[in-house]
Amino acid sequence: MASMTQRVFSAMQPTSDSLQLGNYLGALLQWVELQDGREAIYSVVDLHSLTLAPDPAVLTRRTRVTAAQFLAAGVDPERSVLFVQSHVHEHAELAWILSTFTGMGEAGRMTQFKDKSAQVGESGTNVGLFTYPVLMAADILLYDTNLVPVGEDQRQHLELSRDLAQRLNARLGEGTVVVPEPYITKDTGKIYDLQEPTKKMSKSFSSPRGIIEILEDPKVVAKNIKSAATDSDAVIAFDPENKAGVSNLLTIYSALTGRAIPDIVAEYEGKMYGHLKGDLAELVVEALTPVRERTLDWVESPDRLDAVLAEGAAKASAIAKVTLGRIYDSVGLLPKRG
Ligand code: TYM
Repeated sequence: MASMTQRVFSAMQPTSDSLQLGNYLGALLQWVELQDGREAIYSVVDLHSLTLAPDPAVLTRRTRVTAAQFLAAGVDPERSVLFVQSHVHEHAELAWILSTFTGMGEAGRMTQFKDKSAQVGESGTNVGLFTYPVLMAADILLYDTNLVPVGEDQRQHLELSRDLAQRLNARLGEGTVVVPEPYITKDTGKIYDLQEPTKKMSKSFSSPRGIIEILEDPKVVAKNIKSAATDSDAVIAFDPENKAGVSNLLTIYSALTGRAIPDIVAEYEGKMYGHLKGDLAELVVEALTPVRERTLDWVESPDRLDAVLAEGAAKASAIAKVTLGRIYDSVGLLPKRG
């Protein structure tokens, strides 16, 4: 049954050697905040990333470095559960059950599936890419999750998770699973590419100059911010529709300082874009430097990192086992004796 304390679940894929600023501002900062007064469970979803056919050694390395970045950003293993998805076999098992509740049409409508399959072409599109959101629903429903902090690009996947939860409850009885709510922040839910500020910043689609990797050399970070694309009318104003570039910079500025955007706009009235970019470059470097240093510390002690992940997997398994058992019973699978 659902616990009294609100439960939070979220996850990221180990698909690169560094998270990017969108992951950090759009999700990770919320993860850290939501640890207070709630039961938080965070995962590195390695099974999801297999849909992109990673090199095995690279996947292993990225799984550790992704977990290390969660810890470095402030995910606290004393207060939260942190684990690797493949260490808890119930995820794959629940995904199978949920796939039998998912329509071909509704899975085919997922825009991320359409984008990714268009990127790799029909011959590169595997079935796992198609069922990806079903595995994601399993991740969430397995922990009787109330809140899922993610960026805007995951909204449609979360809608599917909610639809599946409601479908299970309607067919198998109310209370079979908890219906999760998205937790998407209005301002930082979508951080845009620095060179093409109408597109989201993304590990797979952004160019090296359009993205800020959080483990990147501070000089490159500063250079990318300073060379961000802005418009030619040189007025610092927040207007995402007509001034996407500068509005994105103001959003990042606001997220890092906690200051309201109108306040920042007022401070820079009459100043040049270069001024804003220079200050923002400093702010971003200042925010990311300790995260980079702490990540390197964790990566240099893989035994300590693996111990945190093992403890997390044990705690996650204990919860997952109970939920999966309840769902197996509800669908009528014959209980195993002994
Ligand atoms: P992933 O690994 O692509 O991204 C991790 C998180 O970062 C957010 N994000 C952004 N937020 C704001 N602006 C951006 N430019 C930006 N780019 C990425 C994403 O929205 C996400 O929150 N399918 C998920 C992983 C997943 C998951 C789950 C998430 C698997 N199971 C269960 C929540 C719950 C994904 O690919 O995220």
